[in-house]
Amino acid sequence: MIDAASTSQALSFQRNVSLAKHNTVGIAATAHRYADVLSEDALRHWAAAHGTTERAFIIGGGSNLLLTRDIDEPVLHIAPRGIRVIEEDAESALVEAMAGETWHSFVLWTLDRGLFGLENLSLIPGYVGAAPVQNIGAYGVEVKETCERVVAVDLQTGELKTFSREACAFGYRDSVFKHLERDRFAITRVCFRLSKQFTARASYGDIQSELAAMHVSTPTAQDISNAVIVIRTRKLPDPAVIGNAGSFFKNPVISLADADVLSAAHPTMPRYPAPNGVKIAAGWLIEQAGWKGRRIGAAGVHEKHALVLVNHGGATGAQLWQLAQAIQNDVLAKFGIALEAEPRVV
Ligand code: FAD
Ligand code: EPU
Repeated sequence: MIDAASTSQALSFQRNVSLAKHNTVGIAATAHRYADVLSEDALRHWAAAHGTTERAFIIGGGSNLLLTRDIDEPVLHIAPRGIRVIEEDAESALVEAMAGETWHSFVLWTLDRGLFGLENLSLIPGYVGAAPVQNIGAYGVEVKETCERVVAVDLQTGELKTFSREACAFGYRDSVFKHLERDRFAITRVCFRLSKQFTARASYGDIQSELAAMHVSTPTAQDISNAVIVIRTRKLPDPAVIGNAGSFFKNPVISLADADVLSAAHPTMPRYPAPNGVKIAAGWLIEQAGWKGRRIGAAGVHEKHALVLVNHGGATGAQLWQLAQAIQNDVLAKFGIALEAEPRVV
């Protein structure tokens, strides 16, 4: 049942809204209809009335999107705010964050309260609601480890549905919300099981060297967070300065046999063990293919990190996508590896 008291909360749609400030690549696409969703109930009402006739387009902070066209579907900017502890005991707390909370502010909120598990994921752009969509990960940690459940509005019916961790079908940069349930379920809340005992996750090489540079031998969660912030700030371009969506391709996972053949030909190729094979650094493949720092008009490959495509100013989504496809073709021809885009390309 949808709360009758909330019937006054109707979604308010604006016409022909520029999405330039709603995507970190800075693409000047237009939403023909756009609404800020500030409450779950308002969304449920809209979905109950329109869900069977209208397919929506869901956005959060727009940091994992490449827009190559204007958006005809109603754009729902999922932005309800709020964080609360639902239950806790001596060992852990179950924390619920609303989808519109900024991810990094939420991480800092947990650290301030002595709740651990998200520190390695500091400074990832975007909102809490999108974190389960691609199972955000960085520096040896993925959100699936602490994400206990996800609550979403079924946009076809207005009903609420709870997805357990298993039902989310998390994988490397993957979940059910990237496939079958894309744009059907709008995530409104995410619940995290966070520990009151801190265990440092510092095996990632970059973190070790950063902690050493900080002269920290027994890191606190705050130290890990600080180290991650320093590394990320050094390596990744700030979207406020130059438009980008972070890594543009996933790191490909190939078979052990194929990885050995490549390693024999390229002994310096970075490779990492993965559950179902060997993970290869896409940034290395792209750099070896000669793309690092190159640009075609305003669409470019970042000069410091070949996995990040950048908008030097005024690029269209189609131009960036053409660049991405040229890189895919070259990497396939040179290494026999098909790179898969990480952001949503629309
Ligand atoms: P959006 O870009 O708005 O949306 C992304 C996808 O999620 C879309 O398909 C959208 O439809 C869907 N979606 C968004 N909100 C909801 C919702 N409430 N319900 C249902 N579907 C929804 N990612 C990593 O994993 N690790 C990194 O280290 C990392 N580093 C980055 C660094 C930079 C500089 C940038 C720009 C991006 C980086 N990213 C990284 C990618 C990005 O930050 C994450 O994917 C983030 O979770 C996207 O959040 P968002 O709110 O911006 O989502
Ligand atoms: N490399 C190069 N040239 C480059 C860039 C990278 O050769 O221009 C090689 C280096 O050898 C480096 C290796 O690639 O050691 C890996 O690079 P890095 O440590 O920067 O990590 P990444 O694999 O490029 C991944 C995630 C990031 C995440 C970091 C840290 C993916 C697709 N990307 O990047 O996530 O922050 O690890 O864990 O898995 C994102 O998803 O948007 C994102 C930024």
